[in-house]
This record gives sequence, structure tokens and C-alpha cells, in this order.
Amino acid sequence: MKIASGADHGGYAVKQDLVRRLRAQGHEVIDVGTASAETSVDYPTFAHRVAAMVASGEVDRGVLVCGTGLGVCMTANRHRGVRAADCLTPHLAEMARRHNDANVLCLGGRLLSEDEAWAITEIWLATPFEGGRHSRRVDLIDEESEPS
Ligand code: RB5
Repeated sequence: MKIASGADHGGYAVKQDLVRRLRAQGHEVIDVGTASAETSVDYPTFAHRVAAMVASGEVDRGVLVCGTGLGVCMTANRHRGVRAADCLTPHLAEMARRHNDANVLCLGGRLLSEDEAWAITEIWLATPFEGGRHSRRVDLIDEESEPS
């Protein structure tokens, strides 16, 4: 898969580890930064970069890491067509794919070890979207009108 990855300083270490493991598995990874854990940076910068690449189709998926996963998730979900999910467990990652067709995975670099983050990422990459009734619901996410 072609995957864009980004992180702030709070997610840098986990992002570096994920990029290395993804490339070792043969994925093409575009790393949009940040390039160090030492300098404090703003997570929306990196979340917008990755989400824009997913929304445009330039990449298949995105992986974002900040301290909690929350800030990058909120930011990425502002992009139409992006379905970002902050997943703290492998089960959440599996359900985010099966039912929600999540195309951006968000992770908490200060909450997860590198091995835990990788276990979550592996399941998220391997799990297909179930489709069926879930396709209608996913389509409704992007509907313009207010629910009646
Ligand atoms: C940075 O200190 C921290 O706020 C950020 O990494 C993230 O957790 C925000 O949601």
C-alpha cells in the first residue's frame, strides 16, 4: 500500500518505528514529518498534510501519531472523505476497518509502546471493510443535510 505518515513531537518515536516497520513489509511510505522529538510542533500541520493526501487519493491510507491520537484525529476528520479513527486497542482498529472503513489510523504515542502501536497498525492494515449495511452508513457520514 501507499501510506502517508505524520506525527508531532509527542508521536515522533512511535511514528519513526512504524515507518521503519511498514517499509520493511514492502509498503511505500511518505513521511511528512516531524523530524525530531526535541522541538515542540503543532499537530494540525502534520495531520492536515496526511489527510489531504488521503482525501485526494495520492495515498491509500494515512497513519498519524500525536501524544494521545486525539488532536490529529480531530484535524484529519475535517477533510471530506477522510475517516480517521483513534485506536487504543487492536479490537478498535479491527472494528474501525470492518464497520467504518477508516482510511486514517490515529495513535497515541504517549499511551502506547512501539510494539502495541505496531500490533494495532497490523490489524488495521489487514482487516477489510465489510460493506453491506455499513456502506450506507459510511456514505451518510458525508451527506450534506442534517439528519431528520
Ligand atoms: C502535545 O503536547 C500534545 O498535546 C499532542 O501531542 C496531542 O496529544 C494532542 O492531541
